Amino acid sequence: MAKRGGFATRMGAIAAAVGSAVGLGNIWRFPYEAGVNGGGAFILVYICCILVMGIPVILSEFIIGRSTHSNMKAALKRLSPGKKYYLFTYLCILGSFIVIGFYSVVCGWIIEYLYQAAVGHLIGHTPDEYNSMFTSLVTSPERCVGWTVLFLILNFLVMSRGIEKGIERVARIMMPLLFVILIVFCINSLLLPGAGKGLKFLFYPDFSALTMRGVLDAFGQAFLSLSIGISCLVTYSSYFKDDTSLSKDATTVAVLDTMVAILSGVMIFPAVFSFGVEPTAGPRLIFEVLPSIFQQMSGGYFWALLFFLLVFFASLTSTISLSEIPITFLIEEHKMSRPRAIAWTAMFTFVLATVAALSFNVLDDIKLWGKNIFDMMDYAASNIFMLLGGLFTAVYVGWILDRKVVHDQLTNGGRLKGTIVEPYLIFCLRYIAPVSIFFIFLYLSGII
Ligand code: PFF
Repeated sequence: MAKRGGFATRMGAIAAAVGSAVGLGNIWRFPYEAGVNGGGAFILVYICCILVMGIPVILSEFIIGRSTHSNMKAALKRLSPGKKYYLFTYLCILGSFIVIGFYSVVCGWIIEYLYQAAVGHLIGHTPDEYNSMFTSLVTSPERCVGWTVLFLILNFLVMSRGIEKGIERVARIMMPLLFVILIVFCINSLLLPGAGKGLKFLFYPDFSALTMRGVLDAFGQAFLSLSIGISCLVTYSSYFKDDTSLSKDATTVAVLDTMVAILSGVMIFPAVFSFGVEPTAGPRLIFEVLPSIFQQMSGGYFWALLFFLLVFFASLTSTISLSEIPITFLIEEHKMSRPRAIAWTAMFTFVLATVAALSFNVLDDIKLWGKNIFDMMDYAASNIFMLLGGLFTAVYVGWILDRKVVHDQLTNGGRLKGTIVEPYLIFCLRYIAPVSIFFIFLYLSGII
């Protein structure tokens, strides 16, 4: 078995988990999902979901990972000897490949925009031209696949050189910077004419605009954004030291992640209304709106460059954590060497990501329920794999896992004071998470 290290400091551990959580899910996907689902009411459901499911499931993954210091499969075997719960790991691996498949295509778009910003082509156009600019990118198979492949090469190069830790260290500087830049952009957006309309859209809960599909989308978005349901945080927390407070860390990750998502919304929606872009534009939303924002800022060229660079690093720390799921599994469960495990993971990822990148052009006539392959992967990853994975994790820790393990992990073997965290956690895991997810699926499958 590969030698397992640990994070040197509590900050290191949290920074890595935040690095995984904060990424395109917050900056690209949250605004587009909020836009498609009517804004305010979606966000309210999203925040409730973070409180009653997100934080409890993060904590559950932390408990599984840190109590065993192993990957998901070995952890489940150890925690429930002789039982077949470990088979759930295969769902996690499949889920992680699907996420990274569509996610790296968007990372590819980010690199193209970074490039366009660098050569000065991003500034000086009308909103309509920004619309065509994005269309011309996604309808070009060469560009779409090319940038995606370039991103993946960088991702796996970082991993094979063993410099993820270096990247995480860089991200520890970049993340706070991203935060500050988001605030600057928010202020700028709020000063735009008509900004009030965007704020109202974002924060006024109009429940008539929210469908049951929207509720499911809010749950899926929360799970994707927090990186839960596919054992990513099990892998990370398996390296945590035994004296960190899991409940504090879980709350910190969730709060920071949610703040970045809300700030992205405040940055995007005033501009959406001010520049007359459709809030329901979907995955293309931020790519149509951001250039218009940069354009009317003084020093727009540098803001654009800096912004896409920071987003690029935020995405890289997320894809590193995603790729680590199958890689750790192959190393520890199939006794592969690290280079071999990386090679296998990279091969599968390249195939899936290429198919996703081609789904806007060469493969765009392959559609199911009006969704192309990219949209299907995007939808399946969060609304099916991560949600069901989260459900399994909740039920496992809430109902099946020995309560002593839960108690020990929450109190660090009795060294931390027992608080209301444990009863709250158990109540959410046992009742709220399973019942709500179950009802949404019943509703959507037409049974109720
Ligand atoms: N949470 C990341 C984001 O919001 O961009 C995406 C992600 C990373 C999902 C790692 C799942 C995962 F395991």
